[in-house]
Amino acid sequence: MQFPAPTPETVAPNALLLEIAWEVCNQVGGIYTVIRSKVPATVDVWADRYCLLGPYFPQQAQVEFEPLSDTQLAAAYHDPVARAVRQLRQQGVEVHYGHWLVTGKPRVVLISPFQAYNQLGQIKADLWNHHHIPSQEHDDLLHQVTAFGHLATRFIQLFEAEATTAGHRIIAHFHEWMTGTAIPALRHQQTTAKLVFTTHATLLGRYLAMNDPNFYDHLLYVDWEREAKHFNIETAVKMERAAAHGSHVFTTVSELTVRECIYLLDRIPDAVLPNGLNIERFVALHEFQNLHQLYKSKIHEFVMAHFFQSYSFDLDKTIYFFTSGRYEYHNKGFDLTLEACARLNYRIQQSGLEGQVVLFMITKRPYHSINAEVLQSRAMLDEVQDTCKAIEQQVGEKLFYQAASSTDYQLPNLTSLVDDYWKLRYRRALQSWKTSRLPPVITHNLVDDANDDILGFVRRANLVNNRHDRVKIVYHPDFVSTTSPLFGMEYGQFVRGCHLGIFPSYYEPWGYTPLECVARGVPAVTSDLSGFGDYVQQHVPDHEQKGIFVVRRKERSFDEAAEELTDMLWRFVMLNRRERIAQRNQVESASGQFDWHQLRQYYDRAYELALERE
Ligand code: G6P
Ligand code: GLC
Repeated sequence: MQFPAPTPETVAPNALLLEIAWEVCNQVGGIYTVIRSKVPATVDVWADRYCLLGPYFPQQAQVEFEPLSDTQLAAAYHDPVARAVRQLRQQGVEVHYGHWLVTGKPRVVLISPFQAYNQLGQIKADLWNHHHIPSQEHDDLLHQVTAFGHLATRFIQLFEAEATTAGHRIIAHFHEWMTGTAIPALRHQQTTAKLVFTTHATLLGRYLAMNDPNFYDHLLYVDWEREAKHFNIETAVKMERAAAHGSHVFTTVSELTVRECIYLLDRIPDAVLPNGLNIERFVALHEFQNLHQLYKSKIHEFVMAHFFQSYSFDLDKTIYFFTSGRYEYHNKGFDLTLEACARLNYRIQQSGLEGQVVLFMITKRPYHSINAEVLQSRAMLDEVQDTCKAIEQQVGEKLFYQAASSTDYQLPNLTSLVDDYWKLRYRRALQSWKTSRLPPVITHNLVDDANDDILGFVRRANLVNNRHDRVKIVYHPDFVSTTSPLFGMEYGQFVRGCHLGIFPSYYEPWGYTPLECVARGVPAVTSDLSGFGDYVQQHVPDHEQKGIFVVRRKERSFDEAAEELTDMLWRFVMLNRRERIAQRNQVESASGQFDWHQLRQYYDRAYELALERE
């Protein structure tokens, strides 16, 4: 579905848009990606009518935020944001105003929550008296959220007064419960701003899905208040409900989460705002394929270091699968991915098919250190590589000399061109590196190795990188980054180097991980219980041909879903290189419809709806 791009004048003329999120200039999770990647498309339409508001945390702000100078601020005489900032400062509140240093460089206001800590008693009393939101002691996030909500309210009131005087209407768009307390407070003070609230999951939904294997069947009957108390999240849940009920327009990110909102928050969302990305397309069509090759060779290096110490295999016939995300074993479908990979392992063994699969599991778990043997093996392979390079250089120089002075034009025996010193060093390097132990499944020493679900599974299934296993596992319990010694690449580069991303989530309001694959031309598996998968089923015809595979988990048993996923993986490993290249081309060309320039329209419609509401 493609919408015509609106021109700046057609979207809510004369309205100003303030977007408020905890993750503005402050990366915590997926909402950061939403807000940040959306900026360029939003600025295209809203231009100077757009500003963001978030909490000020000095360490994060240092990297992402550039304040306006006092002169710039003083010169911004007609800017209602600047005028509101100046007034709040006059009231003794430290407010930061400047630009967010991301593509699109939007204006942003940041306020530190901590400066209102001395008023927390009163703020909490107001929340209770006006909105029946109880408070909780000793919970720092709740304190920050409560304090920020109060300061944001004060800022918005001043902004509203300034903007109204200048003849503007205001839309204030809040994301997630963390910024939500400002909504009931503003309504209590009879704001004239139109309030939009987007929830990216419900708090209770996430907890229940993690703890109840039949979450979707039980959703209808949940006693939200009792469960909120049970999980000790009553305050946050009540903040979320107050925001949902107090907003003029209430929205969420997928049709799936709509159900959750109805049953757990008791309000039907007015609109669904699907998440997009700022899709980067290369001018040279083939460039992303070249990048795949480039980063795959870096993954090859890791794989050689990790496995070849024990046994080797043909890298040219190796397929790289990966899964990644927050460590929610069940919700993220890690359990299903592992089960399907164990079945695939068996099928490949039985079939006599050549080649193997390496499955990377990238997530974050507390660990003591990187496994010393893994690090050492990597260092020793580097030594082997250095030795090879030295030999190569020596042979090269000598060969050139001999060729030039040759009289019989015969190629000399190349081994005779290598010094004994290098021959010995070559043999020693290999001898001390090779070992008979199996390549470890996990790259790090976990704090809680004994109770880890992933390790528990591979031990039970004996999927422990035996020589005969055709699906090997590498569990990397830390983000992949350029500074990580094992991969030494950015996550996005790692994704490009892989062949398939596997994300068959059980609970996932949207889920960016498969979309991040698609954006890079890498095929991906998602599920119909993830907002993205549900969207793909409804809006992307022939998505399988386009390399987006949706595992059906709705009303299906774990076993059925595992079998379907195994079939998908099996079909994937049967593809030949030419087919994989063609599939990547298809994936890449499908990515455009997830660009914010397409999906922003949903936001703009929600804003127009908000302006119509009283
Ligand atoms: C890209 C490169 C090709 C390479 C291919 C490998 O398309 O441009 O040169 O042959 O990747 O694909 P594969 O799926 O085997 O990693
Ligand atoms: C939440 C959801 C996730 C979604 C993200 C951005 O973190 O759990 O599924 O991708 O918000 O909307």
